Amino acid sequence: MIDRLRFKLSKHFGAKNVLDDFALEVHGGEFVTFLGPSGCGKSTALNLLAGLLQPTAGEIWLDDERLDPLPPERRGFGMVFQHYELFPHLSGSRRATRRSCRGVSSSAWPSRGRW
Ligand SMILES: Nc1ncnc2c1ncn2[C@@H]1O[C@H](COP(=O)(O)OP(=O)(O)O)[C@@H](O)[C@H]1O
Ligand SMILES: [Mg+2]
Repeated sequence: MIDRLRFKLSKHFGAKNVLDDFALEVHGGEFVTFLGPSGCGKSTALNLLAGLLQPTAGEIWLDDERLDPLPPERRGFGMVFQHYELFPHLSGSRRATRRSCRGVSSSAWPSRGRW
């Protein structure tokens, strides 16, 4: 279990300032929720913590280790996406066969109801 996660992060997308010195300290055993209107930056903050986005400025510390220079796989964070399907417009079977069936007519693929 962690003792302490702390961060202070800014993220700009072009001229859009989504997070401006968003800072928080979380201690082991605490349960934290980000609550806010759509578009306020909740997912951006989680993506920054997971390492899927780079901050415009700021730092992330887990106990005594600085995390923000580390790639996602070395941070020890898990994240479940709100929309977890890479290709939400495709059925399960088509998502599974998308790569291997490249170049094959889609009419040859299993229909949506079969898998
Ligand atoms: N990759 C991106 N490029 C440009 N703007 C983005 C990007 N990701 C998010 N945004 C913008 O940042 C703001 C915050 O988005 P987001 O973190 O997804 O909000 P929330 O999760 O709170 O609904 C929104 O205005 C969104 O359009
Ligand atoms: Mg979101």
